[in-house]
Amino acid sequence: MNMRKKIVAANWKMNMTVGESAEWVRDFLLELGDIRDVDVVVVPPFTAIAKVTESLGSAQNIKVGAQNMHWERSGAFTGEISAALLRDLFVRYVVLGHSERRQLFGETDEIVNKKVKAAHEATLKPIVCIGETLEQRDGGKVEKVLSTQLRGSLVDLDAKQLQETTIAYEPVWAIGTGRNATPAQAQEAHAFIRQTLREMSDESVAEKIRIQYGGSVKPNNARELMSQPDIDGALVGGASLEARSFAEIVKAAREE
Ligand code: 13P
Repeated sequence: MNMRKKIVAANWKMNMTVGESAEWVRDFLLELGDIRDVDVVVVPPFTAIAKVTESLGSAQNIKVGAQNMHWERSGAFTGEISAALLRDLFVRYVVLGHSERRQLFGETDEIVNKKVKAAHEATLKPIVCIGETLEQRDGGKVEKVLSTQLRGSLVDLDAKQLQETTIAYEPVWAIGTGRNATPAQAQEAHAFIRQTLREMSDESVAEKIRIQYGGSVKPNNARELMSQPDIDGALVGGASLEARSFAEIVKAAREE
C-alpha cells in the first residue's frame, strides 16, 4: 500500500459557460462536500476560473487548475496567459503538455519544459501529460515515447519540484474514444513511468510523485483503474462535465 494521496482532476476542455460552471460546483458540493481524503482539482476554461473559485466558497480543499499557460512572466504575447495571471485568480494547478496541445497546437517537449519550469517558479503545481498514439503502441514504441516525453518535459527540475509535479499518463487512443486502457495496460505504463522517474531522480522522490491515468475514465471503470498500485488518480475529460459522474469517480478514488 503506497502513501500517495489520490488526485482526481476534472478537465473541462473547451466547454462550460460561466453559468454552467456555477451550477456544476453547486451540484458537486451537494454530492460530496469539501472532501479531504482525495485531492480534487477542477480545471475550467480560463473564462470560468473566477466563477468556479467564487462558487467553491469555503470548500477550500477543492482546488482550481488551468488548462495551459505561457512560460513568459508578462509582456507582448497577445492571447496568452501567464502563471502570475493565474495566481491572481487563486489557481493552484496547471495542466501542461496535454496531447491536444501537442497534436493540435504544436507543443514540443521543449516548450512543455519551459512551461513546467515557469509554473514551479510561480509555485503553481504542474500536471504534465504524456502518452502514446495508437500507431506508436502498435509499433511497440510505448516505452520509448513515454521516456522521451517524460525526460524532455522535466529537464532541470530539482527533487522538490519533481515531487510537486503530477504526471498524467493519457494514451492518445483512449482520449474521448470510450476505449480506456485496461487496468493492466495502464498499470504497466505507470510502473514504467515510475521506473523512469527513479532513474531521473531517486527511489524516495519517485515514490512520492503522483501519476494519474486519463482516457475515457468513467464511474464504472474508475475504481479498478485507481486500485492499481501505481495509479494515483485520474484526469477526467468527458465524464467530468457532469457533476454527479465526476463525484462518482472521486468517490471511487476514496473507496479504493
Ligand atoms: P476523456 O475522459 O474525455 O477521454 O478525456 C481524457 C482527457 O484528455 C483528460 O485530460
